[in-house]
Amino acid sequence: MTSITDTMQHDHVLIDGYAERAAAAAETSAWPDLEREGGEFLRRLRRHIEMEEGVLFPAFEERTGMVQAGPSAQMRMEHTQMQPILEQMQAAISAHDGAGYRRASQALFEILLPHNQKEEQMMYPMLDQAVGDQASALLAQVRAMAI
Ligand SMILES: [Fe+2]
Ligand SMILES: [Fe+2]
Repeated sequence: MTSITDTMQHDHVLIDGYAERAAAAAETSAWPDLEREGGEFLRRLRRHIEMEEGVLFPAFEERTGMVQAGPSAQMRMEHTQMQPILEQMQAAISAHDGAGYRRASQALFEILLPHNQKEEQMMYPMLDQAVGDQASALLAQVRAMAI
């Protein structure tokens, strides 16, 4: 049976790939590539956050009763911190502003890198443990949201 940890970790890797290709495109002023890869990065990351906040975290909170001070609350707060930076990246793509894109991307990854590590090492394993045999049903919901 596929775990939440494996599935969501795989999505992190996939999303990171778009970020790397977008950063390379921004570096070389390859605007069509930046629009495609950067646009896909933003769309997939936003969808990934929706999967967490809309499906997985509520299931965790329901099972454990940890709502206010638990790990999912911390993850939600970090998602909120990312939102204005994602807007800046979107604006930089539209404006063909390679330097602005790289600056915003760097700021994002200062949050996103440790965030993903915390999810992979703590949040997702706790989720797998908390939801038990409900994991398959939750993953089916998550996959239905995939782009
Ligand atoms: Fe997250
Ligand atoms: Fe995540």
